[in-house]
Amino acid sequence: MTTTERANARVGDQTAEFARWPRYRAAQLGFTEHWYPVARSRELRAHPRSVTILGQDIFLKRDRGKVHALHDRCAHRGIPLSRGRQVFPGTFSCIYHGWTYDLGTGELVAALTDGPDSPICGKVRLRTFPVEERAGLIWVYVGDQNPPPLEADVPAEFIAPGAMVAGRITHRAGNWRYAAENGFDEAHAKFLHRDAVWMLFRNFPAWMHTKIVEDDDGWITRVPTDIGFQTDYPGLGRWPKARPWRFKKGGARVSIRMPGTLRVRFREWTHYEWYVPTDAEHHLYVQFMHKQTGPVGRLLTRLRYWTYIHWLFHWRFNEQDRHMVELLPGRSHPERLFRPDASITAWRKLCEQDRGIELSVDARRGNG
Ligand code: FES
Ligand code: FE
Repeated sequence: MTTTERANARVGDQTAEFARWPRYRAAQLGFTEHWYPVARSRELRAHPRSVTILGQDIFLKRDRGKVHALHDRCAHRGIPLSRGRQVFPGTFSCIYHGWTYDLGTGELVAALTDGPDSPICGKVRLRTFPVEERAGLIWVYVGDQNPPPLEADVPAEFIAPGAMVAGRITHRAGNWRYAAENGFDEAHAKFLHRDAVWMLFRNFPAWMHTKIVEDDDGWITRVPTDIGFQTDYPGLGRWPKARPWRFKKGGARVSIRMPGTLRVRFREWTHYEWYVPTDAEHHLYVQFMHKQTGPVGRLLTRLRYWTYIHWLFHWRFNEQDRHMVELLPGRSHPERLFRPDASITAWRKLCEQDRGIELSVDARRGNG
């Protein structure tokens, strides 16, 4: 076989592999009919905010304590509503010609520059999005169906009262699917993260064989079946070198579920991640630690978070992931999966069976 033929065969393999997941492949902008975390509650005070998720520009406004979410484009000429101002309570006015929308229903209740009898009133309505505020976060539902309770998508323990939740939200480059695949990817931690300060004392395996099991509530979980530490690689030598200070044993239990929620269970606490699609090339990376504990425990855990977990894990360690997600090429690039990538294919299969509707860039264009 010539070099060109070999290259073509690889492309063919990749095409065949990826063609197995047509819905996932199409879902550049994610899946509808789900709740997504979009911002921290404390970031939304009187001043409105604009976020983009699943290709939708969404205007967030807190009015008399309650958060509202509307399509962030005025129906008149398309100016972002978030640039406007509040003239009357319960409404918001576009900055350009003063079209004024009811925050709860999205209905146009006044066109200020056309007088109180403007005939356009009542004939225009902006799309509204269901919103919940729990665990210090604002959650928005994107979909056409009646929204299920937040618990349908968000782990009950995460939004239970009394939990200690601390973390960060960043806007990152890379399609959300790369970030999700990286999150559940079985093999990379043992190489990419081996020298991260967060892992300084951990005796990392060289390799691991796993099986993927289905848990309750839609989670799939990686379960190790065989583990190797210092190992001889035929003709090459031994890897990795023994490090006496790496004494910590035992790994975390890693699971993922729709709509792109990663759960990493450590012995004492749990790390959660969400990969929220924004546009085809970016996502919101939402990372929070969670611990169910009493009032004193909450205080101590928060102290622990800000002393080192935030810096070493949520920042430095996960920056290595950010870098990889940014470096991954587009889907047109051939991929050759290996044994540990069973985690990635299990995740793709999960998406393939999702209750939502996959959104492609083209579908979004017709979505206004
Ligand atoms: Fe909004 Fe004209 S564009 S009122
Ligand atoms: Fe990682």
